Amino acid sequence: MKKVLITGAGGYIGCRLVEYLQDKGYEIKALDRFYFGKERLQRLITDSKVELVEKDIRLFDPEILKGVDVVIDLAALSNDPTGELDPVKTWSINYLGRFRVAVLSKVMGVKRYILPSSCSVYGFQEEIVSENSPVNPLTTYAKANYKAEVDIKKLIDDKFSVVILRFATVYGYSPRMRFDLAINGMVRGFFKNGKIPILRDGTQYRPFVHVMDVCKAIHLAMEAEEDKVKGEVFNVGSKEQNVQIFELAQRVAKAIGVEFNYEWYGLPDHRSYRVNFDKIKDVLGFYPDYTIEDGAKEIYDALKSGILDPDDPTTITVEWYKKLISEGVMV
Ligand SMILES: NC(=O)c1ccc[n+]([C@@H]2O[C@H](COP(=O)([O-])OP(=O)(O)OC[C@H]3O[C@@H](n4cnc5c(N)ncnc54)[C@H](O)[C@@H]3O)[C@@H](O)[C@H]2O)c1
Repeated sequence: MKKVLITGAGGYIGCRLVEYLQDKGYEIKALDRFYFGKERLQRLITDSKVELVEKDIRLFDPEILKGVDVVIDLAALSNDPTGELDPVKTWSINYLGRFRVAVLSKVMGVKRYILPSSCSVYGFQEEIVSENSPVNPLTTYAKANYKAEVDIKKLIDDKFSVVILRFATVYGYSPRMRFDLAINGMVRGFFKNGKIPILRDGTQYRPFVHVMDVCKAIHLAMEAEEDKVKGEVFNVGSKEQNVQIFELAQRVAKAIGVEFNYEWYGLPDHRSYRVNFDKIKDVLGFYPDYTIEDGAKEIYDALKSGILDPDDPTTITVEWYKKLISEGVMV
């Protein structure tokens, strides 16, 4: 069984991924600076083969990578508004930090490095975009992702493989919850105020994917034959889950069985794109198990039962980082 190192393991995707790969019997090093706390991840760990490593990707000792077969490099400042708080920090973590992880992985004999990037590299586009389309990264976050893609790919050689996964916007329950993601935030908004918040002007298209389907896609990328994935970029999501934001809100209301009441917020969002997901389906046989409705219901149930706290301050990523920075915590 392969040895895996996951950076950003204490994050929204990371917590679920550790659990998913633990269930499959992998030996895991779960590395994170744990800006959102480590207790929630600790509670999920039931196997002695999973080790928590409290380190920063910009500083950790390369020896940690000894014997590791696959690295999944999730650590990052993880959305557009957080990326703009301090663009230099964003570049230092999302680009330089991940480039460092990739270089050290190569030096330490890791065979495969998986870079979680984002469909936000497409920015605003009228056409349906595929992996071969020109990119249009509009924000610091998207630009740092794309630069990491380009430069980390250059490290590929006979022994070192890189796979790039461009995730759609993720939704669904995680112990490190993110209510700043569209579907999750809509459910929370309704739960708190009886109105679904919709980012103006509602006509923008975004692709979506459930967090457990992201874990499934990462696992497929880890285990695929070398010639299928080496140096390849895959959009992670599905054709059916390219949705306009206003329609998304209607679907969320229907899924959780409430009347469709909504309120507008924000300035018109210029990030609109529809994404083609044929490649991951054809090459890796990926198809999602979860729908938007499944995700909305699961979050609503977790809020109703008290598993999720709608006022947990860590769930709005940008606000939490602002607090950490104001308290002098190194970000
Ligand atoms: N969630 C989404 O919708 C989505 C979509 C596309 C891409 N992604 C990408 O997936 C990755 C994970 O996203 P997420 O939603 O789990 O975000 P998250 O913010 O929940 O997790 C990121 C984790 O990285 C850690 N981290 C940040 N800086 C670090 C550093 N310098 N050293 C070590 N750890 C550090 C944080 O403590 C956090 O636990 C990110 O790269 C993100 O850009 C996410």
